[in-house]
Amino acid sequence: MSEPVNKSRRRTLIAATAVPGAITGAAAVAPFVASLAPSERAKAAGAPVEVDLSTIKPGEKKNVEWRGKVVWVIKRTPEQVASIEKIPASQLQDPKSEKAIQPSYVKGAERSITPDLMVMEGVCTHLGCSPVEKATPGELGNDWPGGFYCPCHGSKFDFAGRVFTGSPAPRNLDIPPYKVEGTKLVIGMGQDGKDA
Ligand code: FES
Repeated sequence: MSEPVNKSRRRTLIAATAVPGAITGAAAVAPFVASLAPSERAKAAGAPVEVDLSTIKPGEKKNVEWRGKVVWVIKRTPEQVASIEKIPASQLQDPKSEKAIQPSYVKGAERSITPDLMVMEGVCTHLGCSPVEKATPGELGNDWPGGFYCPCHGSKFDFAGRVFTGSPAPRNLDIPPYKVEGTKLVIGMGQDGKDA
């Protein structure tokens, strides 16, 4: 299989080879440094986005924009993690996420690197609406464990974004590449340092 293009490395090489000819004095330095910061256009095109995890408390969700899509960053509580593990496989379309779009390094029913931190796209895999949080067990019926509900056509997802049977959404919510360095989350760059 061919190696995916490493865009970060390619950008670095282009920048490095451009330096000797481009900088002729102090006055030339500032514009060059400024150009290294991702522009709004570059961000929209897919530059990785950093998130400070220390500002998100257990049970909270933060919406982050990456490549024009909403990505949810969720600090799951121990109860929410436990609820994922208790859902019978027969109630889910793809309990092991075998058809899901997600990085190879997210594992298990939790679909995450560590159980407490969930990163996934807040975009319904049916027709692209935004599911809403229905976090309270019982909120959508006696057996509702808590999770997300799409108001457009009624798809239901658990706290790992796994879609319940009977929902029109054809697959679990997508997970973008991401990596965690201490309290810093980088969306759009994988654990191997490669960007998406
Ligand atoms: S867009 Fe979500 S169920 Fe149709």
